[in-house]
Amino acid sequence: GKGEYRHFMQKEIFEQPAVIGDSLHSFLDPLSGTVQLPDLGIDFSAISRITISACGTAYFAGLIAKYWFEQIARQPVEVDIASEFRYREAPMPESGLGLFVSQSGETIDTLEALRYAKRCGQTILSLVNVPESAIARESDAVLQTLAGPEIGVASTKAFTTQLTVLACLALATARARGSIDAAREAALSQALLEVPARVAEVLNHDTTIRMIAADMMEARDVLYLGRGSLYPIALEGALKLKEISYIHAEGYAAGEMKHGPIALIDEDVPIVVCAPAGPLFEKTAANVQEVIARGGKVILISDAEGIARAGDEAAHVIELPPVDPFVAPLLYTLPMQLLAYHTAVLKGTDVDQPRNLAKAVTVE
Ligand code: F6R
Repeated sequence: GKGEYRHFMQKEIFEQPAVIGDSLHSFLDPLSGTVQLPDLGIDFSAISRITISACGTAYFAGLIAKYWFEQIARQPVEVDIASEFRYREAPMPESGLGLFVSQSGETIDTLEALRYAKRCGQTILSLVNVPESAIARESDAVLQTLAGPEIGVASTKAFTTQLTVLACLALATARARGSIDAAREAALSQALLEVPARVAEVLNHDTTIRMIAADMMEARDVLYLGRGSLYPIALEGALKLKEISYIHAEGYAAGEMKHGPIALIDEDVPIVVCAPAGPLFEKTAANVQEVIARGGKVILISDAEGIARAGDEAAHVIELPPVDPFVAPLLYTLPMQLLAYHTAVLKGTDVDQPRNLAKAVTVE
């Protein structure tokens, strides 16, 4: 049941510290501070390329994993939407790994993408929340998220547990490829181990976010911006808002604004910006300035340092704890979920069963 919560989605958002912890502890040994994958029978030192394919929110998890595999493991990765990949007839390399991400394990496009990769001789690894699913059955090896059953149609805890396991997989791949030293591995493992506590801190902003949602519910369009591994979080924020509040939203890489979408900006378009302090902050802050100069109302999600540098002109700020950039996508997802949730509740939509949507898309 929903217990003390009004909706399953709300319950599932608040379960995240626990289920991220469960998923983490099945792969990361807190004593040694190192990732220990089960024996998957895959030699991660010898993969030419990983091809990730998935749908919707699971695809965004794959996009973030690409940043991690490339930066930490120096592993070439390609990511594609399963409904495109399955028909694209892409050539696939020798010694390639196909990685398929799916909460339900039953999404037909992801299953067909898997079958295509198998025909092309790829080793098949899947990441599912439901281990007795078609995608798991047809894989050479399976990793499981320990999110527990997800009832709300909008994916929340499935997504953050997917990210958790993908982060562990990137670390394991980095070690296998010799692209990370022990000190850096320990630091990144430690950052991951602290995620459940940091996520719990972010949930404390629930009331602030509900107030921001009261502003957002009147909007017709909302833009979400991010850079680097937070660009897919902008995509996820926009998808979450669309599917449960029915407000039109778009996620963009912040640097793409000037190539078109900035034409949309006026006083009526809220712009949600995910921008922790760090090497890319000044770039995003410049994009924020351009938006504010055109009357845009910015909701800045950052840490204390970022808010000190760029928060003054924002209409709203949400201050998240400072964390290693590696784990930032996990934290910045939470305000996206809560903004969408509260906006939908205020609008009175059916949060757990949005119109036209099914939990698992088993027909094309
Ligand atoms: C969005 C959402 C969908 C799913 C997508 C894939 O909130 O829930 O975009 O992520 O349909 O579903 P699975 O992960 O079951 O393959």
